Amino acid sequence: MVRENITVLENKHILLGVTGSIAVYKAVDLASKLTQAGAHVTVIMTEAAQHFVSPLTFESVTGHPAYTNLWRSGSGELPTHITHIGLGEDTDLLVIAPATANTLAKLAAGLADDLLSITVLAARCPVIIAPAMDGAMYEHPATQSNLATLRGRDIIVIDPEEGRFASGMIGRGRLPETPTLMGHIRRVLGRQGSLHGRRVIVTAGGTQEALDPVRYLTNRSTGKQGYALAQAALDAGADVTLISATSALPTPIGATLVPVTSAQEMLAAVEASVPGADVLIMAAAVADFRPAVIAERKIKKGADENQKLTIELVRNPDILLTVKRLRQETGWPRVTIGFAAESEDLEENARAKLEAKGLDLIVANDITAPDAGFAADTNRVILLDRRGRRQALELASKMRISEAIISRAAALLGREA
Ligand code: CTP
Repeated sequence: MVRENITVLENKHILLGVTGSIAVYKAVDLASKLTQAGAHVTVIMTEAAQHFVSPLTFESVTGHPAYTNLWRSGSGELPTHITHIGLGEDTDLLVIAPATANTLAKLAAGLADDLLSITVLAARCPVIIAPAMDGAMYEHPATQSNLATLRGRDIIVIDPEEGRFASGMIGRGRLPETPTLMGHIRRVLGRQGSLHGRRVIVTAGGTQEALDPVRYLTNRSTGKQGYALAQAALDAGADVTLISATSALPTPIGATLVPVTSAQEMLAAVEASVPGADVLIMAAAVADFRPAVIAERKIKKGADENQKLTIELVRNPDILLTVKRLRQETGWPRVTIGFAAESEDLEENARAKLEAKGLDLIVANDITAPDAGFAADTNRVILLDRRGRRQALELASKMRISEAIISRAAALLGREA
């Protein structure tokens, strides 16, 4: 698959401070992935960091100079004495990853004795720090109190993870992997977006309807479109609840995950989260039927090779119809968006569902195309709204499709306000 830019990172100026930890190799990957996503990444290294990796490594992956010295300007063009001020200007975000215990102590005390610490003091943009150190150093009261001080100054701290250290010991202090760091960065860069302060609920995946303790009925949904929608809503600054019937995909950083299995469980989770919600997006493929009884024990086959087994199915509740009633009574959610998975008469069926389910917008999805619908990384949909407007979206990644849906959600909310 072709790697595409991440919209919320596109053309953003990110300063990446790198300090002396074995986790520096992960910072190289982070710098590379941010650059590939469309950000302009400038690296500042402490002296200790250069023992682990050379500035040239960062320069190679970012295409920009890596600064190392307060008094000299690395291989870049900035005049010497104002390097720190120049670096802080026009910066959207400053990230320090990995941040050692020593750097945390310096920042907490407001010391300014190298290019990185002086740049942090001069910067006016949001600052994220990702501590990485031995477990005992991380737990030490001095480090914890420094972190509390930094949090108190609105610096965002990415908690280290548990794992095995270079020393062989196990504890908390490992720098999270690149996707986690990227998730936090997206969250901060998107927080003033079009859904800032809004509560968005997204359902995703195919529900599972148990037949016995071993088996269940489900469908071909993978949850990819729903998860991309949750990420797009986060990128737009929303507070996101993801009600998911799949556990195969990583939860987007910042989303509150509500795991469910069956349609009935999904309904209960939606009912519980809808009060006060601005937007509900039902991207889940909800099973319309479930086995009438769930066998307590595994269903065994008999000796007869011609044996037939009949499973009786009963109707599941229609979640969107329930939400329609709730919305009439309470006013929540303020905007409801549904999907229509169709194999024929796409627009006609979708429009009928829009009406019947009381939706503001429906995403009509032709599931017969191999490059669209279930399991594909791309999709091709038509957005139909209550006012008769029709917007056809060309084949695009599920992320781009999600961004278009989220921007329609923001517009619908704007009209409601
Ligand atoms: N949906 C729902 N509850 C159900 C079934 C579907 O809330 N029990 C939602 C889906 O999440 C989707 C929309 O309704 O947003 C349309 O789903 P779809 O499967 O296309 O249609 P159905 O209503 O199930 O109708 P049919 O299967 O007859 O096409």
